[in-house]
Amino acid sequence: MNTSTQHSPCETPAWQALAAHAAALRDTRLRTLFGEDPRRFERFSLAAAGLTLDYSKNRVDARALELLFALARERGLEAARDQMFAGVPINNTEGRAVLHVALRAPAGARFEVDGEDVMPAVAAVRERVGEFATAVREGSWRGYTGEAVSDVVNIGIGGSDLGPAMACQALAAYGHARLTMHFVSNVDGDQLAQVLARVNPARTLFVIASKTFTTIETMTNAASARAWFLAGGAAEKDIARHFVAVSTNAAKVAEFGIDAANMFGFWDWVGGRYSMWSAVGLPIALWVGRENFEAMLDGAHGMDRHFAEAPLEANMPAILALLGVWYRAFFHATSVCIAPYSQALARMPAYLQQLEMESNGKSVTRDGQPVAMSTCPVVWGEPGTNGQHAFFQLLHQGTDLIPVDFIAPLKAAHTLPGHHRLLLANCIAQSKALMVGKTADEVRAELTAAGMSGAALEALVPHRVFQGNRPSNTILMPALSPRSLGALIALYEHKVFVQGIIWDVNSFDQWGVELGKQLATRIVGELASGDAEHEDASTRGLIGMVRAAS
Ligand code: F6P
Repeated sequence: MNTSTQHSPCETPAWQALAAHAAALRDTRLRTLFGEDPRRFERFSLAAAGLTLDYSKNRVDARALELLFALARERGLEAARDQMFAGVPINNTEGRAVLHVALRAPAGARFEVDGEDVMPAVAAVRERVGEFATAVREGSWRGYTGEAVSDVVNIGIGGSDLGPAMACQALAAYGHARLTMHFVSNVDGDQLAQVLARVNPARTLFVIASKTFTTIETMTNAASARAWFLAGGAAEKDIARHFVAVSTNAAKVAEFGIDAANMFGFWDWVGGRYSMWSAVGLPIALWVGRENFEAMLDGAHGMDRHFAEAPLEANMPAILALLGVWYRAFFHATSVCIAPYSQALARMPAYLQQLEMESNGKSVTRDGQPVAMSTCPVVWGEPGTNGQHAFFQLLHQGTDLIPVDFIAPLKAAHTLPGHHRLLLANCIAQSKALMVGKTADEVRAELTAAGMSGAALEALVPHRVFQGNRPSNTILMPALSPRSLGALIALYEHKVFVQGIIWDVNSFDQWGVELGKQLATRIVGELASGDAEHEDASTRGLIGMVRAAS
């Protein structure tokens, strides 16, 4: 990708100015910024693709944002974004285009890879996914005994698991009454065994999802599922009614014994962690139906258009990304917390861990030089309000600054009275508490009003002070609908893209997962043979213990 600069981002004028401005702002209190500007919410919030982002509770002023936008321009963000949408092979270490945006584009759109329009193939797979999902849901797709499908078991890992698993949980309110969705990812047989114990082979559909169809965990689980299915009384020919594959590797799918007619394909220009919009989303279509799956795609497309067209100053993914860069670079933020105030979004932090950390957890630039600055922070989180009773203590009074993204649907999917208001009140209260904190004088006044005084009061004061000035974003959506979910995930995808451009890393490869895979392959042999003499003392010792226990 041709970013407009050749030198380290830290040496650019915008970076230098940002560093100076961050130092000048370090002692500025968010309380003060809000006090000075009653319109801060209006000025530092925006709506796009049905989502609202309130970024007013960040330690920035107009000048900081101006400098962040200047940095983005200096890094060639707009040109880089256009290259992604144009199908340029921006994944330079694998020589691949990055076109997940094509997967959610409407009919009639045109996206090219190597001069060829990919949309006819995208539309054809989308159609097959839709038709298959409808057949299973309506019950016209039947198992080998003539029964309709009651259980869908998705076997996949990483991008072939997290997206569909997260989305199916998020959209449970839209789920089909006859279906139960199961997701098996771990090679720890506990997970598959527990699922198999609950399902009936005659009514179970296995979706084997793997971009490469070589991932050892998925292949091991798929082989065990196949053996279990056959052991339950079904014949080889019955596999066609119960096993479908989602992959880019037709040869390996055939080798496994799944008919080409039961394979849903995608392409090498779809990264694993960006693949829930492709046939990898088949479990989502099965669960919520074709129309809802397509509404999710359309919600994502709305965010794509916003990202592609809005000026940086009003561009939600760009703003979210630049704020993250700001804290990482100038406030030593080593992690960000994702706090969905929605139990249905419980898997969203795990999903974002792969999206952000596998994409931008890199320490060399696109041309292989050491990066000049810290890149991706650790991403973690849990739904509120549960997190409040676990780790929020550290967010409020710990030694580190940890920016938080609060995410909440304005309307609930249930009708239980009172719950949703209480949930949202907590969400708003937490971002406010992080922002305003509580001063020693405020603590004293509170304790005095409660009847305390003297040394006992003073001893408690430091424990009850909240520094405040801790930043957060709040992302609101009307309801957790397929459309909102699509827009939300696309927002984070584009945030990751923007940060990759600023940090100058290739967000679309994942070489860092390879070494462990290679060693595991070797060690599995050593566990069997005991021949581990050449290993280091620790590895040898551990292998010995495993062998002794088996
Ligand atoms: O090991 C990492 C990874 O390659 C991810 O990037 C990917 O999402 C996951 O493994 C699964 O890969 P596949 O879909 O090819 O089985």
